[in-house]
Formats: sequence, structure tokens, C-alpha cells
Amino acid sequence: EKSGYKHFMLKEIMEEPEAIESALVGRVTLEGPVLNELKEFNVERVEKIKLVACGTSYHAGLVFKYFVEKHSNIDVEVDVASEFRYRNIHVDDNTFVIAISQSGETADTLESVRLVKRKGAKVISISNVVGSTITRESDVTVFMNAGPEIGVAATKTYVNQLIVLYILGMHLLRMKGIWNEELQRDFEFLKQAPEIFRKILNNIDLEEISSYYKNYHHFMYIGRGINYPTALEGALKLKEISYINATAYPAGELKHGPIALLDPTFPVFAIAPKDNLFEKTKSNIEESKARNSRIIAITNESNKELEKIVDDIIYVPDSPDDMYPLTISPVIQLFAYLIADMRGYDPDKPRNLAKSVTVE
Ligand code: M6R
Repeated sequence: EKSGYKHFMLKEIMEEPEAIESALVGRVTLEGPVLNELKEFNVERVEKIKLVACGTSYHAGLVFKYFVEKHSNIDVEVDVASEFRYRNIHVDDNTFVIAISQSGETADTLESVRLVKRKGAKVISISNVVGSTITRESDVTVFMNAGPEIGVAATKTYVNQLIVLYILGMHLLRMKGIWNEELQRDFEFLKQAPEIFRKILNNIDLEEISSYYKNYHHFMYIGRGINYPTALEGALKLKEISYINATAYPAGELKHGPIALLDPTFPVFAIAPKDNLFEKTKSNIEESKARNSRIIAITNESNKELEKIVDDIIYVPDSPDDMYPLTISPVIQLFAYLIADMRGYDPDKPRNLAKSVTVE
């Protein structure tokens, strides 16, 4: 069933183009992005959105926050479910709750849904599993249609969460009368995403780069803005399957403490596409270089500004600023996969982890 791939994780990364296609079916129309699932909701009324999720799904929620806040006045808050369920959450008629769970069975996320339902909130869930508990307990489910994911590390389901959340965000903005050229470009990009992913996955070759890094004991991922979650996700992927102590910080936080860790034994993985925050991230990269850390960076093809500064560089296609969390995802996933495999671990079955976390 691995279709010739060594591991499910690799197979599932390679399936991302088709997974995206399935997530887009019926949701990209001539008029624009549409989510029929939300027909019954007065989405134009929404003023506050609270997202709740765990792990990788939480990172997808963070991307949504940056995206929707950038284009509107909607207040978006994201929390990990194990915190959310014990907070005193306030909801009113104009608050929507979005619960994200690939499996639909994560105990803390389910309890969070129950909590806000008791308080009268409307809950939209985003899940990959038809018939899962979360789909029965929320008001409506938007399915991510990624197909079954066997590997414990979320890969194609993360990509599809992003796709569905971008569509949801665009739908919401459009219903509120917000649309602009940038959103139109983002939407056009989504339509081409399967092809773009095919190109990325066919051309990418990370074997050599991964082999330089496989023996480090530590890793510092940095990113800013909508790619801060990308840094978090890159670090989570690496730690969960390769057992390297990978940590992620917003690049601007480095000098508030973590930069003290950096030395030649502590490489920095910079998520640095040429977006509105690039110059800031670039100076954080330079500061890290000055501590003699080895630097690996991801940026976009046409940006050659990092070539003289960093040790290793991985290019992704030029994309609209909002969309880099998507184009960079397969790269951080493959990097973690290769390192785990080179270190002799089975990435499909990381120690101490289960695919669904059904207990608190
Ligand atoms: O099924 P869920 O989306 O609710 O799962 C949430 C997390 O347990 C999950 O994303 C976990 O972090 C993965 N192992 C990440 O690869």
C-alpha cells in the first residue's frame, strides 16, 4: 500500500497535489471562493473568530489568523485546545469558533467544542475523517478531503488544512464585502496550487543538504508573520520524527533570549521568503551568522539576497506573500523526513506518539 515508497510519510507528501485538488473541488467557482457548508451561517456578521486545535492543526490555525487579520478588522484568536478548555472563554452572537482536527477525535479539541457549545457558540469544525466525533458535535464540518493519512506526522493533511482555511477566510471576507487585488491573486494561486506542488515535488532534491544536518543535536527555526507558524511546524516535524531538539521562535524574539544558545553546534533554519518582513528576517539571519551558527534558509527563486549570507539555501517558486506557508510546507516536511530516515528512525512510527490523541 506504500505504492513503492519507502514510507507512508513520503508517499503522503508526494500525494499533496492530488490532495489539494480534492480540497478545492466545488470550492473554487467562477464567482470566487465558496464554502457551501457555511450557507446557513450569517458569516457577514462575524466580528470575532476563535480557533482551537492541537499540534500541527494549531499551526494551521495560526496561519489563518495572520491571513484574516491582515485583510480585515476581524479579531482572530488561536489557542491550543489543552489551554482553551480551561480558560474562561467569552462568546457572543458575533463570535465563531473554528475547531481544527484532522482525526476528529482529539480529546482536548472535542472538550473545547463542548465547552463553547454550552456557552451558545456556533462551531465550525475542520476535519479529514467522515463520521468522526467532532463532525457530530459541531454545527457544521468542512472536510479537508486529503484521503487517509497513515504516517503519524501530519503532512498532506496540514497542506489541506491550509487550503481549506484560506478558502474559508476568503469566503468570509468576500461575504463581508472585502475583496482586493491581493486576495484575487491569492485565489488565483490556490487554483494553480496542485500544479505548483507538482513542480516543487518533482524538482526538489534535499538529500545532500539533509545529510549535512543529520548529526546536529539542536535546531533553531525562525520565521516572521504568516511564516512564524511555518517555523513552528518545521520544528515540530523535525522533533517528532528525528528526535532532534528543534525549537522555533519568531525571528524578532531571538535577541530576547534564545540567541544565547547559538554557536557552531546549533544551526538556524530560517524561513525567509521575500515578503514585507524579509529585511527584518535578513538582519536576524545576519545576527545568527555572527554567532557562527550554520544557516539554512528557504526563500523564493527570484530572491538572491541570501546567497552570500547563508550556508545552504532552498528555493521555492515565487508566490503571493500570503501563500508562502503553503509552498514551503513540502520542503520542511521532506527535510524532516530525510533526516529521520538518515538517522535510522522509522518516520511512520515515531516513539511515544499516536496518530489520534484520544486522552487528555
Ligand atoms: O487529529 P488532530 O488534528 O486533532 O491532531 C492534532 C495533533 O495531535 C497532531 O497534529 C500532531 O501534532 C501530529 N503528530 C503532528 O504531526
